[in-house]
This record gives sequence, C-alpha cells and structure tokens, in this order.
Amino acid sequence: MTIALILASLVLLVLFGVLTWHALNDFSYLGGAGVRHSYSWGARCYDGKWRSPSYQNAAQTRQLLAPLLEQAGGDPAAVVVDLACGTGRFTRLMLAEEEFRGKIIAVDFAPGMLRELRRVLQEMPPAAQSRVEIQEQDVRQWRPAAESLQAVALLEAAEIIHPLGPTLEAIFVGLQPGGLLLTTVVGNGFGWLFPGRRQARAEFSDWLAEIGFVEIQRHPWRRRYDWLLARKPLPPARSHPP
Ligand SMILES: C[S@@+](CC[C@H](N)C(=O)[O-])C[C@H]1O[C@@H](n2cnc3c(N)ncnc32)[C@H](O)[C@@H]1O
Repeated sequence: MTIALILASLVLLVLFGVLTWHALNDFSYLGGAGVRHSYSWGARCYDGKWRSPSYQNAAQTRQLLAPLLEQAGGDPAAVVVDLACGTGRFTRLMLAEEEFRGKIIAVDFAPGMLRELRRVLQEMPPAAQSRVEIQEQDVRQWRPAAESLQAVALLEAAEIIHPLGPTLEAIFVGLQPGGLLLTTVVGNGFGWLFPGRRQARAEFSDWLAEIGFVEIQRHPWRRRYDWLLARKPLPPARSHPP
C-alpha cells in the first residue's frame, strides 16, 4: 500500500513537472498550433502584463528604441517590422516616438493577439493607424524583399519559434546593409528550459554571428530576458587604385 502511494506520488510529481515545463515554454515543444491557440486565448490578459513595473521603465525603453530610431531616422519611407508582434507593444512604442515617421509591418500568427492590436490601434489617431500594416502569418514562412527594411524587432519570441534559423536568415536578407535586428534571448539561468534552441548564455549571439550579423550587443533587461542588438554589415568600401 505504502509503495503504491509512493509510486502514485512520483508519477503525479513527474506529470506536474512536465506540465509546468510545457507551460513555461509556452507549449512550444508541442508544435506551433499550441503556441497560436494559447496566445489567442490569453490575448486580453497578455496586454495587461505590460502595466507591471518591470515594463514601465522609461529609461530602459528609451535605451531599447534609441538605436532603431537613429537607424530609421525621420525618414517617412523607412519600414520597420515587428515580428511575432503579439498585441503590438513594440509597434505602439515606436508609433509614440515623434522621431519615427516610417511604417511598421506587424506580423503574428495568433488571431486573438492581432485582434487586440487592431482594437488598441483604433484608439490612436488615423494618421498613426495608417502607418501600420498587420499581417497574420507564421513568421517561419515570412520572407521579406531583400534589403527592404531598416530594422526588425523580434521581442520575447525567439525562444518559442522553432525552427528559428530560416526566420533569422530571412531577417538578414530583408535588412538593408547597416540595418538593425532588435531581439531578446532568455536570460542566464533560463536557457535550460529551451533545450536544442541555442538560448543558453552566449549561444544565441554566436548564432547571429554565424548568419553574418556584426556589432552584436547583449544587454541585461528583465529577469527572464536580455535584449540583443545586431547589425547587418555595410558592404566593404571599394578601394581605389592610387
Ligand atoms: C511572448 S509573445 C511576444 C509578443 C510581442 N513581441 C511582445 O514583445 O510583447 C510571443 C508572440 O509570438 C507569437 N508567435 C510565436 N510563434 C510564432 C510564429 N511561428 N509565427 C508568428 N507568431 C508567432 C505568438 O503568437 C505571440 O504573440
């Protein structure tokens, strides 16, 4: 009887551990459908998390956006992509910046998240709304025109997109020379939650370097995430014969 009880407790413990692990990685090891549905269902609550103090740090937000604002300049023709945009935190932050005059393409595959984004955009001035194009799409199939983008943001999503390699390659192709990728990587101590996804410690930076990105900087950010900035290199300057 006692052995049966111990065994049953062990089985329950293992089941609980497995379930918790799946929940912590957004069910992303169960395939894209799990991620899409869980985010669609939780979209309303998701948006609420930004009101928590860890997201309300204006200086940090400024630090995060500054390189992109510099890259896109005041150019109304600049195109910036918010990949796996969710309810559009990055899109909305960029739209709020006077220095940014360009267009944003917001891409996500969870209809519920995009519904929330559309709802909040409707509260914005029509001029701001008209600068956002929403695309409901799986980013693993997203392929931008070569050298058409000033910057791409992929925030709090790189670890749950699998495989991520083709998307990183597509970002590299789509960026103009000198263009920027702003992304996140799970902080030290969380990488073990994502086996096989190159999220532990410096692995993600190494991956970006292998693809061709340069000037890769990793900044501590929130408890679960660090943010990363990486640049597509400019073509080498032509040397002129003396
Ligand atoms: C943690 S949320 C991050 C949302 C937003 N980038 C932010 O910073 O708040 C992750 C988002 O990635 C999206 N996502 C995950 N895998 C995706 C995929 N393969 N294609 C498109 N969107 C995806 C989810 O639908 C969800 O909206």
